[in-house]
Amino acid sequence: LKTTKNHLRHVDSMSTLPSRAGKITGLNAVILGEALASEEDDLVFPNDEFVRQALVPSPKKYLEMYKRSIEDPAGFWSDVASQFYWKRRWAESVVSENFDVRNGSVKIEWFKGGITNICYNCLDRNVESGNADKIAIYWEPNEPGSQDSLTYSQLLQRVCQLANYLKDKGVRKGDAIVIYLPMLMELPIAMLACARIGAVHSVVFAGFSADSLAQRIVDCKPKVVITCNAVKRGSKVIPLKDIVDASLIESAKNGVSVDVCLTYENESAMKRESTKWQVGRDVWWQDVVPKYPTTCEVEWVDAEDPLFLLYTSGSTGKPKGVLHTTGGYMVYTATTFKYAFDYKPSDIYWCTADCGWITGHSYVTYGPMLNGATVVIFEGAPNYPDPGRSWDIVDKFKVTIFYTAPTLVRSLMRDGDEYVTRYSRKSLRVLGSVGEPINPSAWRWFFNVVGDSRCPISDTWWQTETGGFMITPLPGAWPQKPGSATFPFFGVQPVIVDEKGAEIEGECSGYLCVKSSWPGAFRTLYGDHERYETTYFKPFPGYYFSGDGCSRDKDGYYWLTGRVDDVINVSGHRIGTAEVESALVSHPQCAEAAVVGFEHEVKGQGIYAFVTLVDGVPYSEELRKSLILTVRNQIGAFAAPDKIHWAPGLPKTRSGKIMRRILRKIASRQLDELGDTSTLADPSVVEQLIELADR
Ligand code: WT7
Repeated sequence: LKTTKNHLRHVDSMSTLPSRAGKITGLNAVILGEALASEEDDLVFPNDEFVRQALVPSPKKYLEMYKRSIEDPAGFWSDVASQFYWKRRWAESVVSENFDVRNGSVKIEWFKGGITNICYNCLDRNVESGNADKIAIYWEPNEPGSQDSLTYSQLLQRVCQLANYLKDKGVRKGDAIVIYLPMLMELPIAMLACARIGAVHSVVFAGFSADSLAQRIVDCKPKVVITCNAVKRGSKVIPLKDIVDASLIESAKNGVSVDVCLTYENESAMKRESTKWQVGRDVWWQDVVPKYPTTCEVEWVDAEDPLFLLYTSGSTGKPKGVLHTTGGYMVYTATTFKYAFDYKPSDIYWCTADCGWITGHSYVTYGPMLNGATVVIFEGAPNYPDPGRSWDIVDKFKVTIFYTAPTLVRSLMRDGDEYVTRYSRKSLRVLGSVGEPINPSAWRWFFNVVGDSRCPISDTWWQTETGGFMITPLPGAWPQKPGSATFPFFGVQPVIVDEKGAEIEGECSGYLCVKSSWPGAFRTLYGDHERYETTYFKPFPGYYFSGDGCSRDKDGYYWLTGRVDDVINVSGHRIGTAEVESALVSHPQCAEAAVVGFEHEVKGQGIYAFVTLVDGVPYSEELRKSLILTVRNQIGAFAAPDKIHWAPGLPKTRSGKIMRRILRKIASRQLDELGDTSTLADPSVVEQLIELADR
């Protein structure tokens, strides 16, 4: 795009922004055409045709909007919020926050006093404004050849029926509901039904084990658990109801009993006759829900009333219940969706993420539906029946926006271009990536092969905690650099700090923090506000700490470099090393475990576990398998270690602290970079570990 370069030259150099903003170092270089010209080779320009129709067609336009969002957040966000329905408008102050732990407890409020309902804004509002017959969801089952769909008015009716059922079972505003479902249409239906009546949903990814599910049930004490009997992914049947049964036994042992287990009969995977049943507690969805009225009064809630809980892994201890509230989250997911994907009402949007993760909350359900978008939901696996399935689906529904994870891009890249080029894909106009840094070679393949060098890629950096995109390209607004998430979204002030927490300007690397709140920020960790402050606000006082490392280049582009804490990012799934370690040591023959990440060609990072066995127990292939099985059972298959390394001893300091730095080097076989091992209590364990590396 030749024009962008001209635009860049013509933008006046806004080098500073007043007060709240400080300096936007990140943008200066972009505006100065000079800086860009020298790095031309790394730049990928959007084509003119795309730019002409883009919502944000130039750096200048972005800067104007960004500048306003930082200088006048209240004005900027209240304009956006006014597009939604509010039963009562928020009170005077749009935002009220204490972001600095040194000034007392951290508190974030947006649109406080405003009364609204996110389900109403996703559904009723669209139905009433002429989108009643627009497709809300296309559903693609595991087996190719059939499909299902719901219009906005049909979706509203289904949601109302379930909402009425839940109310009838005594579910009230503020009650928790656990949802353990695969990617059926019933999953967003269940989320929206909860939102409609003010119940707080907690979706648990249906790949989590019974133990993990129980842990979450015990923490949030739901009135109802919603699940299905089974799901087929690829050629494998997974009996979800059995997993729920086991988790409910476990929860009861821990003092939490659930009265109702609403079970959807997923007939294509399993017939109801084959499903184990507990009379009194278990109810078939199809037997009860359709009997309820198709309209249901909305429970109007305060903008700061909780919308959902989503558990995520931290570097220590048990999973954290990330709590999001209603109003700010609504405004933020809708706006980020619209701009980061350059959304137009004619788009057909497919995000491959599961609703069990934040991506499925913000960018399968809420963000798209708040925009009245048509969303594709896929039950199955992307390589079934073959690795061309994704493009088959793209062609079938004429998908225009395709949002996925680098791990899928890399795995499809390995399977070969023929699976892609066999399909037309000409409907595609925007691609998206999320979950982990996308390596430049995967980026280029995605861009050149999947997108035929035509579609901008939105590499969106964000987190469960942030609710929505934080650093992301706006397609058409500026040239991209493969592997860079580019620039901050409206209202977001990223800063890079050094070890001491001092902000660094210009070209630099360090820890990625955020300076002030944005509407989609999480408000607390459920039941543990202290952990919220300790984990996110105390490491670098005055800032929100993301846990990620980041650098900023001379043109101001942001490059995410991965977690700097003990969290491993496996295929875009966040896994705490401590959780895997505690699963391993629960094995009766495992004495101690230390888990680190290592580079993995497809998954981004793999899980590498060093294990010390109980005295006298010999290491064997059988034991290796049983250790892995223990992790699968306690967390889920996605957390299974890729490599078990038998460690008669672990490298520890004299005070007993495991030196993970050394373990990481051994795991990645960078044996000449072990560094100083002389401070170890017993330096010889390192040689021993190296010897055993490939056993
Ligand atoms: C962590 C958050 C947010 C949706 C999915 C994961 C990593 C996420 C990117 C990206 C580089 C990324 C970070 C972050 N991450 N997106 N575009 N580039 N890294 O959500 O489970 O809360 O994990 O995922 O390390 O901290 P999550």
